[in-house]
Amino acid sequence: MPPLARPALDPNTLARFVDPLPIPPVTKSDGTRAKVPLYRITMRETAIKVHRDLPPTRFWTYGGTLPGPTLETRSGQSLYVEWINALPPQHFLPIDHHLHGAESSKPEVRAVVHVHGAKVPPESDGYPEAWYEPGKSATCYYPNQQDAAMLWYHDHAMGINRLNIFAGLLGLFIVRDPHEDALGLPAGPYEIPLVLLDRLFDKDGQVYYPVSRDPAAPWVADFAGNATLINGRLFPYFDVEPRTYRFRLLNGSNSRFYNLELSSKPNMYQIGTDQGLLPRPVPLNLLSIAPGERADVVVDFSERLGQTAELLNGAVPIMQFRVGRRAAKAGVKPLPASLRPVPPIAESEAVTTRLLPLDEYKDRTQTPILMLLNRTHWNMPVTERPVIDTVEIWNLINLTEDTHPIHLHLVRFQILDRRKFDVHTYQTSGRLNYTAPAVKPDPAEAGWKDTVRAYARMVTRIIVRFEGYTGRYVWHCHILEHEDNEMMRPFEVVPQS
Ligand code: C2O
Ligand code: CU
Ligand code: CU
Repeated sequence: MPPLARPALDPNTLARFVDPLPIPPVTKSDGTRAKVPLYRITMRETAIKVHRDLPPTRFWTYGGTLPGPTLETRSGQSLYVEWINALPPQHFLPIDHHLHGAESSKPEVRAVVHVHGAKVPPESDGYPEAWYEPGKSATCYYPNQQDAAMLWYHDHAMGINRLNIFAGLLGLFIVRDPHEDALGLPAGPYEIPLVLLDRLFDKDGQVYYPVSRDPAAPWVADFAGNATLINGRLFPYFDVEPRTYRFRLLNGSNSRFYNLELSSKPNMYQIGTDQGLLPRPVPLNLLSIAPGERADVVVDFSERLGQTAELLNGAVPIMQFRVGRRAAKAGVKPLPASLRPVPPIAESEAVTTRLLPLDEYKDRTQTPILMLLNRTHWNMPVTERPVIDTVEIWNLINLTEDTHPIHLHLVRFQILDRRKFDVHTYQTSGRLNYTAPAVKPDPAEAGWKDTVRAYARMVTRIIVRFEGYTGRYVWHCHILEHEDNEMMRPFEVVPQS
């Protein structure tokens, strides 16, 4: 794949706020199987208008929209999804056949679906090697025995995951429950999902993915697009009433971290994170969200009658809210002072403490860099074998200069703390010399998480109860470029002996 010959599009030349924000459709079930609702979702190539002044863009989507149709269910209400692969036989993005699992002996187009944040049996978790080709499908079972939260589904095919998700293979999966209902949070037209994706476009309005200088090994270590899609649009606007709204944000980008704020500063609270509600609302000025993370945010526009507020990422406007003059319904409930208790898991409950370095290496295959978890490659024997219903503490020892958002399948966890340490001493003697006191997680992270930012040159400690199912799952960096190049490992939940 030669470097891009097509001229790139500068998104700043586009008219801003001329397209309304699309809301992904909520999907309906297609009947039942053994009395359980069955949904059918087809992966296919789709052309989507991302902006009024651009021709339609080719994407690979679930069900023809970007993001795909939203699956909505209730806690304890199980469902089946038949995920149908009807993608074209050839990929349109640059596959690197050096990457493990993406060898040229493998079919170019492969897909497997994972529901990020779902507590599911291993055979329905979308194991990266359980991919299948166009023309085939897989039916997965989701028990949804978990608290209300916004999960998301996305592709997980070994070695090309970054390309499949980049192509558009992602969507939302919302679990609701009575506890959340009772809080009277903004709902219906006042609860809006916002899915953030950065991309690069060419002058013809088509997305492209960068390549390295080595045509035989095109993998790049990260991706940064200059265009921000929100629910699949560039610079959308959204008309709001002067009242409170609940926004459910997902950072579905490959590598980009967002730092979001609203111009004109309406009151904003974070009420939830990856795995559901926080103990209490956290007043927010700036919302940081890493790849894979979700944020549940309530914004009060009631004092911004007739004004606009821009959603800014690092001071750059990416979306506009237009506040009307009248609320359709008076008497909006005030935000409750407490949302849902998150009882801390006691450190004394942990039966195992793991030291897991995150490190980078020069790669033998000439690719510039290789990042590994616990100094192990994907295909080495499983080293993390927690016992079901036990608690473990994982020390993510980040020796690199970058933040890695680390995600564990199956489980939810709590962040204990983060602490600076001397990287050189660790590298030469394996000793952990802390150089500063431990820092508690931000209040907005003090809930149930499934993805944690392991900051550069810090030890990030998480505490995890391994519950639900035994079997093989994965943990990985959610920077998709890293994940595809070995920064992913299997773990196995084993039975009590
Ligand atoms: Cu978003 Cu392996 O997951
Ligand atoms: Cu996941
Ligand atoms: Cu990483």
